[in-house]
Amino acid sequence: MQYQWYPGHMAKAKRQMVEDMKLIDVVVELVDARIPLSSKNPDIDGIAKGKARVMILNKTDMADPKATALWKTWFEKQGFFVALVNARSGSGVKSVQDVIMEACREKIERDRKRGIQNRPVRAMIVGIPNVGKSTFINSFAGKACAKTGNKPGVTKGKQWIRLNKNVELLDTPGILWPKFESVEVGKRISWIGSINDEILVPEEMAMDLLSYIADAYPGKIKDKYGVDEKLPEDRPGDLLSRIAAKRGCLKKGGEFDLTRAANIILDDFRGVKIGAISLELPEA
Ligand code: G4P
Repeated sequence: MQYQWYPGHMAKAKRQMVEDMKLIDVVVELVDARIPLSSKNPDIDGIAKGKARVMILNKTDMADPKATALWKTWFEKQGFFVALVNARSGSGVKSVQDVIMEACREKIERDRKRGIQNRPVRAMIVGIPNVGKSTFINSFAGKACAKTGNKPGVTKGKQWIRLNKNVELLDTPGILWPKFESVEVGKRISWIGSINDEILVPEEMAMDLLSYIADAYPGKIKDKYGVDEKLPEDRPGDLLSRIAAKRGCLKKGGEFDLTRAANIILDDFRGVKIGAISLELPEA
């Protein structure tokens, strides 16, 4: 997986999305439940202005359920209709139809008053790479998967998936670009593995991640690796060295192989082997 975004790509993706907005009633946005804000591109709020909004917190199996509950309330306060989903297992996916209908209730009512009845609402999935858009669409549309084909005129070139008589889904998701608004956002996106690792220094990533987890989820590092999380005399990197020692990550000369230890930690985190951990909380 490698995503490189250049201004040209972003401009093109944005133009396409602005075009697609004309065809739909509701924007269904996916974010990663571990980093709901850092994996959200705020530009979509402008692009989707006037549309009904659904927010899907995906990968809930990897996130801390308490944090996810706080985020649900937070997004609802921002005017989103929210669904909690694990697109990989399918858990929560079914409920999304109801959430979409709920989000479009006003529109359906308006249509009804104007004599328009039984017109399905049209939805589009959007999100930055790797949040699970394709997995979600497959799971959501899997069985329905009756493509309605091109509709002459308005929807030329577009494929719609008819989920049922009420909802149609644009079959290609809108791809938003990650927005690195701060160093912290960049770190969180790198921890979950959504930017190319090769340009990053695993030791630094792992050290920062360990220090975050030790603060936010005391006990988890100790449980997983059997080392002290914090010692009074600790200097930066000492926790990583302790894990390297415990795991026998040594170079030929007997020096600690910190890169190997770092990669073990990053893999463990991404494989949810340290626990279900959220990397940010809504601001109080
Ligand atoms: P995208 O279209 O937004 O780019 O994301 P995509 O569906 O390709 O999903 C990216 C990765 O996230 C995939 O893993 C996918 O299986 C995983 N994923 C999606 N939703 C969930 C979820 O709710 N929970 C968990 N745990 N994982 C999820 P992958 O390793 O890249 O591919 P694969 O090994 O699953 O094929």
